Amino acid sequence: MSSVDATDRPAAVAPLVFPPSFVWGAATAAYQIEGAASEDGRTPSIWDVFSHTPGKVANGETGDVAADHYHRYRDDVALMSELGIAAYRFSVSWPRVIPGGTGAINRKGIDFYSRLVDELLGAGITPTLTLYHWDLPAELDDAGGWLNRDTAYRFADYAAAVAGELGDRVPTWITLNEPWCSAFLGYGLGEHAPGHTDAAEALTAAHHLLLAHGLAVPRLRAALPAGATVAITLNPGLPRPINDTPEDRAAADKVYGLQTRMWTDPLLRGAYPADVQAFTSGVTDWSFVQDGDLEIISAPIDMLGVNFYNPGLVGHKDAQPGEVDPPLWPGCGDVKFVPMPGEHTAMGWPVDETGLTELLVRLHRDYGVPLVITENGAAYNDIVSDDGQIHDTDRVSYIRRHLEAAHQAIADGVDLRGYYVWSLMDNFEWAWGYDKRFGVVRVDFDTQQRTIKDSGYFYQQVVGDNAVPPQP
Ligand code: FCB
Repeated sequence: MSSVDATDRPAAVAPLVFPPSFVWGAATAAYQIEGAASEDGRTPSIWDVFSHTPGKVANGETGDVAADHYHRYRDDVALMSELGIAAYRFSVSWPRVIPGGTGAINRKGIDFYSRLVDELLGAGITPTLTLYHWDLPAELDDAGGWLNRDTAYRFADYAAAVAGELGDRVPTWITLNEPWCSAFLGYGLGEHAPGHTDAAEALTAAHHLLLAHGLAVPRLRAALPAGATVAITLNPGLPRPINDTPEDRAAADKVYGLQTRMWTDPLLRGAYPADVQAFTSGVTDWSFVQDGDLEIISAPIDMLGVNFYNPGLVGHKDAQPGEVDPPLWPGCGDVKFVPMPGEHTAMGWPVDETGLTELLVRLHRDYGVPLVITENGAAYNDIVSDDGQIHDTDRVSYIRRHLEAAHQAIADGVDLRGYYVWSLMDNFEWAWGYDKRFGVVRVDFDTQQRTIKDSGYFYQQVVGDNAVPPQP
């Protein structure tokens, strides 16, 4: 096994101090917290449609109300203030700002974000804005969604419109969140909206998402003041080979190709990886890539956002005759995914922070782009104790260990600019509904009461000290 056992590392005895400019943040996304799904002119997104389709989300839950942040944003900003958080990453709901996805700005919709931004700035919190965290206007899906090249152009118009309204006050702009999920979970596996199950569609959607990003970058630059940061957030995976054999290493590299290189290579090198195009050629001929697209997609960015939750473990398997590639992993019929040993979160995701250091070091080595961790955190089955508090020691441990791993990456030379914990508060966890709680603040979804968890107090200490304290 090539994995490093986390317990092999000596425990730190002194605080791990971060660079003075390191940004400490918390992250959320519009559909997961806002609620107010049909208020003030907002029209449905693909997630409204999907969550209202029976069988798609656990317990039939939807984001109709969620954490009611649309009405409670002032209280939520006050909570962030109490936690000492320096930056807040939120996303803008496209159909709230441009109902139906095209045309004029909805004043009431954009005013919500304008008030939120002002509230943040008033509290000394820097806004970090994500333009697309998966909530495509339903009308654009009716016209083909991300399978339709035109959606990329509509996204660029939307990006320009939001930048024109908020660009004077928001310094950091993230175009897309985890387009791998939009493409492969949305069009390949069908676990996310719009719920298609077709590998060729997943690859088509992937390209159009990248094109959307690339078209938006110059529009953002034109609308934003000089010095604004323009970025994209990926969920790059760097799976480990089960055994250190050429076959298992090749299998791991294939998965790395789909999860990471087919995004980072066009964005940062201006070309799709030839091996990925070759091993997916049984699924698609990639004719959706038009002349000039790669130049558009590789428009320079200032930073790459990295969302990290867990590493993976993959190896080679002998494909059986007639076996069909899994729709989530086109061209990977000869790859097997095996569960990792050790601790797991309530999502069933393994806990191994050494994977974060490995990933950051690899991205830095291969691409040299400034990095920021735009999401990291864990779901656990929280218990409210008799004292009314949430003593979430497992989440404290998860966050602590990943911060130590981030610190290690900086020590290894990675240009890592910041860390945003996922999530500020419990929210609608997509296909899992409200069962999976990721917040450092608990939300009681019956009363909408917020309670800071022990992990929130731990994070407050880290942010205040700009350091991870030694293990008590
Ligand atoms: C990421 C998403 C985020 C949240 C976390 C747990 O993939 O970007 O919205 O669901 O996972």
